[in-house]
Amino acid sequence: MNSDRVQSDIECATTTPFTLKGKTALMTGAGRGIGRAIARRLVDAGASVMVNDLEEMMLLESETALTQPRRVRQITGDLTEATIPEMVVHAMLSEFGALDIIVHNAGYSWDNFIQKTIDEQFQAMLEIHLVTPFRIPRAASTCICESAKKEIAANQRVMRKIVNITSIAGTDSNPGQVGCSAGKAGAIGMTKTPAKEWGRNNVNVNASGFGLIGTRLVQPITGADAKMQMHGHETRHGVQPRLLDSVKSACTLGRLGTPEEAAGAVLFFCSPLSDYATGEVLICGGSTSDGVSPGFAIEKQKDRNRRTRTHRERNLPPPQVCTTPTSARGYTPGPSHTTSGGACFLLERGEHVPKRGNSACEPPTGPTLPR
Ligand SMILES: NC(=O)c1ccc[n+]([C@@H]2O[C@H](COP(=O)([O-])OP(=O)(O)OC[C@H]3O[C@@H](n4cnc5c(N)ncnc54)[C@H](O)[C@@H]3O)[C@@H](O)[C@H]2O)c1
Repeated sequence: MNSDRVQSDIECATTTPFTLKGKTALMTGAGRGIGRAIARRLVDAGASVMVNDLEEMMLLESETALTQPRRVRQITGDLTEATIPEMVVHAMLSEFGALDIIVHNAGYSWDNFIQKTIDEQFQAMLEIHLVTPFRIPRAASTCICESAKKEIAANQRVMRKIVNITSIAGTDSNPGQVGCSAGKAGAIGMTKTPAKEWGRNNVNVNASGFGLIGTRLVQPITGADAKMQMHGHETRHGVQPRLLDSVKSACTLGRLGTPEEAAGAVLFFCSPLSDYATGEVLICGGSTSDGVSPGFAIEKQKDRNRRTRTHRERNLPPPQVCTTPTSARGYTPGPSHTTSGGACFLLERGEHVPKRGNSACEPPTGPTLPR
C-alpha cells in the first residue's frame, strides 16, 4: 500500500457525512489519549466543546491542539470529588447555554488481584467509572428534560447524546482488574437504564467499549509517563513488550487500536447517524475477546519473579516439567486452558508455574493463584 493511498484513506475517514454545528459537548478526560482524540473529532465536526481533566496544563495543550479557541472551553477538576460533576455541568451551561452531548471518558486503572485489592482501590474504580457517569447526567437532568419538553411541545425532534466508555474488561472480564471490570460493567447499567428512562425525552444513551488502544495505559512499562498520582496513591500504567506481542497475536486485527479509531466509535454515538440507536454497547477492540490488562501483567510478572527467587533462595533442584493434565489437578479448564500437560513447571513444593510465555496453565482461580 503506498503512502498516497494511506493519506487519502485517513482524509476520507475524517470527512463526516453530518455536522455537529451548533451542538455543545461536555468531554471528560480530554487532556490526553482517547479523550483528546474524541474532542478533536467533535470540534472537527463543528461542535463547541467543554474539555475537562485533572490538570490545567494538559487542557491548555488540548485547547491549542484543537485549534478552534472560540469553540473550546476548559474546566479543571477531579470528577470523583462529589461536588465537581455539578460544577462542571454549571460551567458548561454558563459558557454555552446548552448541553447536547456528554462523553464520560475520564478514567484510569488501578489493578490487582482480588485478594490484594484494598477497599479504597476498589472504591476508586467505581467512583470514576460508575459514580461519575451517574452524577453528571443527574446534574444535567433539569436542563435536558426541560429543553426536551419545550422542543417536543413545539413539535421538534432534537436528539441529545450521552456516551459512556466501557471496556472489554467490563464486557468480558479481566483477571487482575476486579475494580476496573466492575466499574466498566456498571457503566453498561448506567447506559441501559438512562436509555430507557430518557428515551421519551429524545436522549440516546449508548456506550463504546475499547480493547487495547495505544495510549499511556498501554505504553512500555519503562515509559516516563508510566506513573500516576491519584488521591495520594501511586498507580502504574504500562505493558511489558512481550505482553503487547501476545495481545497483538490474540487480536483478530493483529494490532492495537489508535486513539483516533477509538474516537470514531464514540463520534458515531454523538452523531445523528445513531439517532435511532439507544442502550447499545459498541465494542471497538479489534476483536480482542481474551482480556489482558497491563496492571495484571505487572503483578503477574512480580509474582513469577518472587516465586523464582524463593525457589533459588531455598536452593531447590530445578523445577520439573509438569505432565499432569490440568483437569486431573482439579481445575476446570477455561476456553484457552491446556489439558494436555507440559504447559507448566512443577515446583518441589507442589506449585504449578507457567512456562515462559504460556499463561494457559494458570487458571483464573484455584490453588496456584498468587497470594
Ligand atoms: N487505552 C485503552 O486500552 C483502554 C481500554 C479500555 C477502556 N479505556 C478507557 O478509555 C478511557 C480513556 O483512556 P485513555 O487510554 O485515553 O487513558 P489516558 O490516561 O490517556 O486518558 C484518560 C484521562 O482521564 C483523566 N482522568 C482520570 N481520572 C480523572 C478524574 N477523576 N477527573 C478528571 N479526569 C480524570 C486523566 O487525567 C487522563 O488525562 C478511560 O475511561 C479508560 O478506562 C481505555
